Amino acid sequence: MDTAALITSETQDRVCIIRINRPEKKNALTAEMYEALIAAFTQAEADPQIRAMLITGSEIAFSAGNDIADFMANPPLDDSAPVMRLLRLLTELRKPMVAAVCGPAVGIGTTLLLHCDLVACGEQTSFAVPFVSLGLCAEGGSSLLLAQRVGAARANEWLLLGEPFDAHTAAGAGLVNIVLPNGKVFDHALAWAHKLASKPPQALLGTRELIRRASQSAARSTIAAEAALFKQLLKSEEAGEAFAAFVEKRKPDFSRF
Ligand code: COA
Repeated sequence: MDTAALITSETQDRVCIIRINRPEKKNALTAEMYEALIAAFTQAEADPQIRAMLITGSEIAFSAGNDIADFMANPPLDDSAPVMRLLRLLTELRKPMVAAVCGPAVGIGTTLLLHCDLVACGEQTSFAVPFVSLGLCAEGGSSLLLAQRVGAARANEWLLLGEPFDAHTAAGAGLVNIVLPNGKVFDHALAWAHKLASKPPQALLGTRELIRRASQSAARSTIAAEAALFKQLLKSEEAGEAFAAFVEKRKPDFSRF
């Protein structure tokens, strides 16, 4: 697999644009792609020429979440697994991050947005955090950050029932800032990133840090607690049934558990 092409990174006038590029699998993420994302975010964070980051997919998909076949072949069972390292890294990045989201944003495709400062999404965007339905648990700090962002009622509904919700529901709840026609999402998000990149950097970084200060250490310990349960559940028969059902394109049957 050519991971260089699956995650691309380019700099445009002090903005680093990081793109997930696996359209045939709706931008589902494999371990190799998490490694490439870690490298891209780390380089952007370290590069003094870069003042803002933009994460995006395509107009077809933002991300269908973790690649389920890769979960089965290559389960992230320890803390050094790429997905675990990426989730921790997201709480450590200091530079502002904007997201341009179209199409499905599932699992980490939604929880990643909780670490972004501004999110623009397309009218046809569909969000979901179906971890429980997959025999797994919330990740990326979402068991804390989602309720902080959208309130406990919505977070319970989305995390426990796991059903998809649309762009206007996401905007109404405060998960995203703006809903636009698909063709306008990227340019709008890029304009935000350029605006951020033009601000006085110390004031911007300092204010961002203040905004996140109260929640960041709790987010880190939540991510650790989620990872501990997630690793356990990955080995469970419940998750095995959910993954097999996905691969076999059938409904899972949890009645025997
Ligand atoms: N892991 C592995 N493959 C995935 C995937 C995932 N998370 N999401 C999509 N794909 C694959 C599909 O199996 C399909 O592959 P195929 O063409 O070889 O059969 C291809 O990507 C296109 O997906 P498809 O389901 O046909 O697209 P869709 O537009 O009808 O639906 C989704 C898109 C994202 C709603 C649907 O694919 C889905 O629900 N995916 C699973 C999401 C998920 O549970 N993610 C894990 C969260 S932890």
